[in-house]
Amino acid sequence: MQRRDEMIDEKVYKSRRETFLKEMKKNSAAVLFSAPQKVRSNDTEYPYRQDSDFYYLTGFKEDNSALVLVKGKKSTKELLFVQKKDKTLELWTGKRLGEEEAKKRFLVDKVHIIDLLDEKLKKLLLNKKRVYLDMFCEDKRVLHVKELVKEVSKSRTAKYTPKEFLHVRDISQAMRLIKTPAEIELIKKALSITKEAHHKAMKMKKNALREYELQAMFEYEFKRNGAYSDAYTTIVASGNSGNTLHYIENSEVLKRGELILIDAGCEYEMYASDITRTIPVGGKFTKAQKEVYEAVLQAQLRVIDAIKPGVKKSELQETARESLCEALVKFGILKGSVKDLVKEGKDKTYFPHGIGHWMGIDVHDQCPYKDKNGKEIALAEGMVLTIEPGLYLREDDKSVPKKYRGIAVRIEDNILVTKEGHENLSRDIAKTVEEVESLYDS
Ligand code: GLY
Ligand code: MN
Ligand code: MN
Repeated sequence: MQRRDEMIDEKVYKSRRETFLKEMKKNSAAVLFSAPQKVRSNDTEYPYRQDSDFYYLTGFKEDNSALVLVKGKKSTKELLFVQKKDKTLELWTGKRLGEEEAKKRFLVDKVHIIDLLDEKLKKLLLNKKRVYLDMFCEDKRVLHVKELVKEVSKSRTAKYTPKEFLHVRDISQAMRLIKTPAEIELIKKALSITKEAHHKAMKMKKNALREYELQAMFEYEFKRNGAYSDAYTTIVASGNSGNTLHYIENSEVLKRGELILIDAGCEYEMYASDITRTIPVGGKFTKAQKEVYEAVLQAQLRVIDAIKPGVKKSELQETARESLCEALVKFGILKGSVKDLVKEGKDKTYFPHGIGHWMGIDVHDQCPYKDKNGKEIALAEGMVLTIEPGLYLREDDKSVPKKYRGIAVRIEDNILVTKEGHENLSRDIAKTVEEVESLYDS
């Protein structure tokens, strides 16, 4: 059976490192670390999850490792540092790959044990002009490399020593904008698991359950199907709680007649999915809920329809705002011309967030939205983004007619930009009123 770590060919990671090296300035070294372990309390830790950029360039999931990329005047070098085999520690914390196996697996120039990192770095940093590091990280390993640079700069024999630090993630995160076919396959796999969970939620008889029971069902379905976990904390927000954008208490009782806004997606082999569906507790939308739902759905479809290479996310935002504003006028919540209302930002009370975000190894993929000159990056083939308009009509908002108060609707899909336009990667997840209602009855 294919080992999970090998779902993307080693050659892919190799070619990413080569692209990274091409982007580096001459006479420089880049140092990337695996994610640190995070303490949960006392001597227990949170489940370990590899650093996204480190994973993108190595495909390696072990902690206590480092990648060093060196670019000289004419040649380049890739070094990977891994934990050494230790039978006693492995008894407690599980198998490690170790130096020998790592040499066989990774297509790098050298593999060393992590204990040698300082010694090797001191030599590598000599006669380099700049060092790429995570400039915004307080991790003691990063700070230690800065100390090493200081030490090296005292050398009397080196022709020159590093005088400039550059942000290592600027290169990797710009690369991550465009997804390769293998990455898209992993996102699709994540979405197929997420789809099953959302469909189960739609079918469930939910009256009198607690929100966390639904959350537990999602987490169970994710794990049961081989996902690592949720890609972010699941939101199960019933009734007016849906108007709190990042509601994660998930503790209320589900009441017939209310909607449940469920924002839940799994992470599969380091790739996220991010799906929101808003469904009625008792399986049937009320008339007012249906009106709001259809308005959000129409806005979402309009935006998705506009996606193609060259279009900007800010343009999609405007399309969503106009569409939702038309509905707000129709509902009697806003008065005036849609154009003026959007210009004045009157819609923002009811649609206060962005239309979407990049998605990939991170749910909010840490890729740039602007280029080096500060200009907005237009959509291009291979990018993946979420489209997630919503309307949030608070129960205490007197500007909202009574029948709409307490309703919150968000609908979110994951879209791939293609050469011709787009592909909705989550199109199989039930979404229309009819689809959602008929799943409940099925
Ligand atoms: N689930 C987080 C988001 O939709 O951005
Ligand atoms: Mn979401
Ligand atoms: Mn999202």
